[in-house]
Amino acid sequence: MTAKIIDGKAIARQLRENVKVQVDKRAAAGKSRPGLATVLVGNRVDSAAYVKSKQKACAEMGIESFGFNLPETVSQEELEKLVKKLNADPKVNGILVQLPLPAHLDEECVLQLIDITKDVDGFSPLNLGRLAQKGREPAFVPCTPYGCIYLLEQSGVAIEGANAVVLGRSNIVGMPAALLLIERNATVTVCHSRTRNLPDVVREADIVIAAIGRAEMVRGDWIKPGAAVIDVGINRKDDPSTERGYRLVGDVNYAEAVKVAGWITPVPGGVGPMTIAMLMNNTLRGAEMQDG
Ligand code: GUN
Repeated sequence: MTAKIIDGKAIARQLRENVKVQVDKRAAAGKSRPGLATVLVGNRVDSAAYVKSKQKACAEMGIESFGFNLPETVSQEELEKLVKKLNADPKVNGILVQLPLPAHLDEECVLQLIDITKDVDGFSPLNLGRLAQKGREPAFVPCTPYGCIYLLEQSGVAIEGANAVVLGRSNIVGMPAALLLIERNATVTVCHSRTRNLPDVVREADIVIAAIGRAEMVRGDWIKPGAAVIDVGINRKDDPSTERGYRLVGDVNYAEAVKVAGWITPVPGGVGPMTIAMLMNNTLRGAEMQDG
């Protein structure tokens, strides 16, 4: 069996086109263009690159973006002052504080300050808390985990009743991914560094979401034949045959798993493009929520 390749690029493109159509409709109806504020603290090269891609996507979609770059040494007070200012600014429909923050800053305090109707990342403890509670609706759901679910749904993978295994329990991906699967009536196991007999646990999974950040850790013989494999990992692997000296690989050994799985996401071109597409969708929804 060879797995169906889940084309995240194509699915994200479709979502982005839908967002653009909606944004243009708003403009044609005399409504404001949605606005996204990005807050970048310090000089991390990866964070700066992510923020730049988010701003580029805004430009493509006709969404306004307001970039705030703060020095590595910024105080908690100054950062909180900025978030409060953005909360009060009617042009700003979404606030994104790029993580991780430098160690001297209190991430939780900053995130819980973001108005939940502008929390387009879905990281505020209130939105995450609502996601964890039965019958409660968060204003926003985190972009990467929702992207994983969206890929499964668009590919026709049955989630209800499925055994799902999530590898990783981060606040940004693993934990919200598990909550979204539970909400859709999957039976969910969350694995982490202390999980015993990990390969055997994964072998029971109809759906695997791998978000552990370890290059090609999940081997083909861990995968149940026909399972859906969603690979969130983006890792550098040395490869002297390439110009850069490395290539990007996921948390799953793709060459092995593609022969066993029913569906699989490639890296790159799987989950990656979904994060920004979801962020654009959330920013549009923020604008709609705040129309009043
Ligand atoms: N750091 C890694 N992923 C993300 C993300 O999706 N949003 C933010 N704000 N920070 C991140």
